[in-house]
Amino acid sequence: MSSAYLQLLDATIAHLETLKDRGAGWVPVRRETLLSIVSPALKPLNPLPSLVRREAAKPTGPAIQDSSMSFVPPERLASASPRSFVVPTAVRSEAAVSRWSKAVSALPSASFSPKNSLVAAPLPPPLPPEARAAAVAELRAEILACSRCSHLATSRHSVVFGVGDIQAKILFVGEAPGVEEDLSGEPFTGPAGELLTKILTAMGLGRDSVFITNIVKCRPDTPGDSVGNRKPRPDEVSTCLPWLERQIDLVQPRVLVALGASAVEGLLGKGTTGIAQLRGAWQNYRGIPLMPTYHPAYLLRNQALSEKRKVWEDMLQILDRAGYPVSTKQRGFFLTKD
Ligand code: URA
Repeated sequence: MSSAYLQLLDATIAHLETLKDRGAGWVPVRRETLLSIVSPALKPLNPLPSLVRREAAKPTGPAIQDSSMSFVPPERLASASPRSFVVPTAVRSEAAVSRWSKAVSALPSASFSPKNSLVAAPLPPPLPPEARAAAVAELRAEILACSRCSHLATSRHSVVFGVGDIQAKILFVGEAPGVEEDLSGEPFTGPAGELLTKILTAMGLGRDSVFITNIVKCRPDTPGDSVGNRKPRPDEVSTCLPWLERQIDLVQPRVLVALGASAVEGLLGKGTTGIAQLRGAWQNYRGIPLMPTYHPAYLLRNQALSEKRKVWEDMLQILDRAGYPVSTKQRGFFLTKD
């Protein structure tokens, strides 16, 4: 092995160790990146594994043998979903690297494209209702006690877990709690939330028949401005995302709805096309159809009927895809000219 390769490997291991020390149990990497690490003959496309998400609660190191469904061990890579896989942060022994090398090299390259090879864990098998309720209660307790973002843990009134049916067919993901949600402990209770509730009613649904949560569970702080709101920062999103991933693992909705750019970026990754281009077009999140649409706060700022109609069209698609009936009356909403 060349010394440049060994240096790169050392730097990668050091980087993974740092992530592990910070609580990361898993890092998703692109297939090409993984190949570049395990195969010195290939020119690396990216010197370090691209960290997209991390899951602190997962085991590390020896857990390479773990049969957890949210982690694809090398032996199962070939039969795993072609779009993605996850490697543990502690692939450091030569034997482990060699196992990964063999498994990754054996993957059919034609089934990967740079776009679809973004790594994400496959969904675990769904839990039966009782076990699901227990797992959600456990997850809720973990999330409510979270202090991974110490600045937010200090400034918040509540950790906003989410609300609704844990067997829901549709799971809505917003950005982060605002002032109202921070005080109430429930997502979407402010003005944007009132609009979301109206949209749900028009869909023939209620807040208790879907599941509603956010990419970030604590109100992003605005020091010196107790009523201000701000977009969550990328570090806050990546720190909080594992919680949402676990919520999705448990609820396993038929459809995910990403409300606004932050939710889209959080779920699909940075560098995603803008929300205006993406909305209305089905995406895929770990095998679940995901519909990006405008955030209700956008509709409050932009009252044009044409924008409301766009969101409504997205909702009609969502209803269809989730298996709900759609009436002629519903299909006709907002069809008058602006
Ligand atoms: N906006 C969001 O994205 N989430 C909330 O919970 C409230 C407002």
